[in-house]
Amino acid sequence: MTDAARRRVRVVQGGPIMIEGPVRIELPDGSVVDSDRFMVAVCACRRSKTYPLCDTSHRRVRPDHPSAQGSS
Ligand code: FES
Repeated sequence: MTDAARRRVRVVQGGPIMIEGPVRIELPDGSVVDSDRFMVAVCACRRSKTYPLCDTSHRRVRPDHPSAQGSS
């Protein structure tokens, strides 16, 4: 298989896993989510309201997260 024929998957630090679509995502409970998008963002943080697809909830700062603390 050539490198050009390989499907590309990119892990975004702190964010989703980007997969070239279309894709079929099979979940542990047996449900299936299809996406025909050119690029599909699969949620890796489990905070998405549209899980398993990313809804950008990973961008919201959590009050208990170190990045939300002041630098005093
Ligand atoms: S990775 Fe974006 S909402 Fe989870």
